[in-house]
Amino acid sequence: MGRKKITVVGAGHVGEHVAWMCAQKELGDVVLVDIIEDMPQGKALDMREALPLEGWDSNIIGSNGYEETADSDVVVVTSGVPRKPGMSRDELLDVNAKIIKSVTEQVVKYSPNCIMIMVANPLDAMTYLAREVSGFPPNRVFGQAGALDLTRFCCFVSMELGISTKDIQAMVMGGHGDTMVPLPRYTTVRGVPITQLIPPDRIEALIERTRKGGGEIVALLKTGSAYYAPALGTTQMVESVIKDKKRILPCAAYCQGEYGINNLYVGVPVIIGANGVEKILELELDEKEKAALKHSADAVQNLVDAMRKMGYVK
Ligand code: 2OP
Repeated sequence: MGRKKITVVGAGHVGEHVAWMCAQKELGDVVLVDIIEDMPQGKALDMREALPLEGWDSNIIGSNGYEETADSDVVVVTSGVPRKPGMSRDELLDVNAKIIKSVTEQVVKYSPNCIMIMVANPLDAMTYLAREVSGFPPNRVFGQAGALDLTRFCCFVSMELGISTKDIQAMVMGGHGDTMVPLPRYTTVRGVPITQLIPPDRIEALIERTRKGGGEIVALLKTGSAYYAPALGTTQMVESVIKDKKRILPCAAYCQGEYGINNLYVGVPVIIGANGVEKILELELDEKEKAALKHSADAVQNLVDAMRKMGYVK
């Protein structure tokens, strides 16, 4: 058995960091694809030249086409346009749907057995689109968002309490948009829910900051959006597939009745292994949490309906 093969489509900030972290972790050989001539080749060569310093054994190549991606085990799609300050993720729907449709067609043509991990925004809708265009079973197409949202929530909890992030486990469900659902009852410090450690008004403030976390970075950067945290979250998902780690992370996964959500991609906790999404875990939610999740799923459904009107999905 040779090394695993990982393709990263889109060599912008998120894509290049995913490629770089996958190489550092020696998860497999990496192909970095972008339409900009010579750019992915340049970035990949630079990374490859860095590997000997640490003796990391991964090959990385850049390409402007998909031939080099043939028979990838995992394909991460980071293509698409990021937000400008003041924009919501949803405003990217039309422009990114066009890109994701054509990228998915190419990915599937060359790697019909791969697992696709989607990163483009609006995340849940783009994941829905990729699954429909690919014709893949839902376990092989899922989206990165929960890992990012929960690391933000963890970070804010650690700042609030002045404690190590190592002891914090956070849970964020729902669509990766302004309606996402950080869950304080399932966010714990060494097993103790933060509802016992932080007053309610402060928890609300941390939830709000998590929801708007992407926008906060966009506003600071002025051009482009966050990439360190999105890229690391994505890399952890790739690692869980490649090493069959069975990690539990919230991901945009295709719900078919779970949480009362039907035929829709929404962020829910899943087990990620060699087969992609191996199981959706159903947490017990109280009435308020259920209502928040439904509200978030409705927002994703509206985006899917809009894509249907535009002719991207059936
Ligand atoms: C974020 O939340 C870009 O959606 C991404 O930062």
